[in-house]
Amino acid sequence: MKAAVVQAAGQRPVYSDFAEPTAASDESRIAVVAAALSPLVRARAAGAHYSVSGAFPVVVGVDGVGRLDDGRRIYFMLPRAPWGAMAEFAVAPAAQIAPLPDGLDDVTAAAIANPGMSSWAALKERAKFKAGETVLINGATGSAGRLAVQIAKHLGAKRVIATGRNAEALRALAALGADATIALGDDEAALEDRFRSQFAEGIDVVVDYLWGASAERLLVAAAKGLPDGAPLRFVQVGSASGANITLPSAVLRSSAIALMGSGLGSVPRDKLAADIGELLQAAAARGFAIPVRAVPLPDVERAWGESDSAARTVFTVDAR
Ligand SMILES: NC(=O)c1ccc[n+]([C@@H]2O[C@H](COP(=O)([O-])OP(=O)(O)OC[C@H]3O[C@@H](n4cnc5c(N)ncnc54)[C@H](OP(=O)(O)O)[C@@H]3O)[C@@H](O)[C@H]2O)c1
Repeated sequence: MKAAVVQAAGQRPVYSDFAEPTAASDESRIAVVAAALSPLVRARAAGAHYSVSGAFPVVVGVDGVGRLDDGRRIYFMLPRAPWGAMAEFAVAPAAQIAPLPDGLDDVTAAAIANPGMSSWAALKERAKFKAGETVLINGATGSAGRLAVQIAKHLGAKRVIATGRNAEALRALAALGADATIALGDDEAALEDRFRSQFAEGIDVVVDYLWGASAERLLVAAAKGLPDGAPLRFVQVGSASGANITLPSAVLRSSAIALMGSGLGSVPRDKLAADIGELLQAAAARGFAIPVRAVPLPDVERAWGESDSAARTVFTVDAR
C-alpha cells in the first residue's frame, strides 16, 4: 500500500510503499479517508513524544477517519505501530474506534478530533467541569484553544477567558464565545496583575496549552488572587511555550489549587476514544469549527514543512 513513511527520527515523511497491515482478532482494518497533522503527530514522528518507543521506520499519523470492511464510516485513534493513520490502510482495536455522525464531513471530523479531545477530556474527565463554572484557556489561539472556547461554552461555562500572544487570533476568539481575552506579553509583572484581577472575579478551571512563563504567572496569580480555600483545577494539556516551570512551594500551600494533566496516560485510551465519539456528535450538532486545509496524501513531504499555525492540515486518501 501507499503510506507516509518516516525512516528515522527527525526526517520528513515520504509518500512510499509500506507493507499492508493485517488485523488481529481484536482489531479492525480501516480504509483511511482523512488524517490530520497535529502537534502530537509531529512529536511522535520525531521520536520525541513520551507515548512512542522510538523504533523506525513508521507510518506517521495518530488518528483519522475511514471505513471499516463492512462499510461503516468511523473515527479511529492510535493504530497499531509501525502502521499509522496516514496510509491507505490502518489497524486499530475496537475500543479505539468511534462511530461518526452523518452531519460531519470526513475532513472536518479528522481535523477536530485531536484538538477537540484536548479540552473535552480535560474538562470532563480530569476537571469534572460543571455547567455554570468559569474557565480560563491559556494559549487559546491554536486549533485546540479555538475548540476549547467553543467546547467550554457548549458544556455550559458561565464565562470563558482566553489568552494568547497573537493579537489577531485573540480578537477572533470573541466571535467563538470568549467573554474576555488577555494578551500575553513580555512584561511578566503586568501579566500577573491582569491574571490576578481575573482570579479575583472567580475562575474554577484553567486549561493550559502553554506551560512555561505564562503558566508560572497564572499559578502565582491564582494563589494571590483567589479567596482562601477557593478551589481551582489547573489542567496542564500542552507545552507550546516551554517544557518546564519553576513552581514556588508557597503557591500550593497558600491556595486550594489542584494541579493535574490531561492526555495519553492520564485518561485511558478507550475513554479518550469514547470522549472523541461524544465530541464529534456535539461537533455535528453545534457546528464546532476551526480553519482546515485539505491536502492529498501524496503531497505529504511538501506540506509537512509548511506552517500550519493558521489552519489544521488534513491529508486525504483517494477511495480505493
Ligand atoms: N494533552 C492533550 O490531550 C493534547 C491534545 C491536543 C493538543 N495538545 C497540545 O496542545 C498544544 C496546542 O495544540 P494545537 O493543536 O492547538 O496546536 P496548534 O494548532 O499548532 O496551535 C498552537 C498554538 O500555540 C501558540 N503558541 C505557540 N507558542 C506560543 C507561546 N510561546 N506563547 C503563546 N502562544 C504560543 C501558537 O500561536 P502562534 O499562532 O502565535 O504561533 C498557536 O496558536 C500543543 O502543545 C499540543 O501538543 C495536547
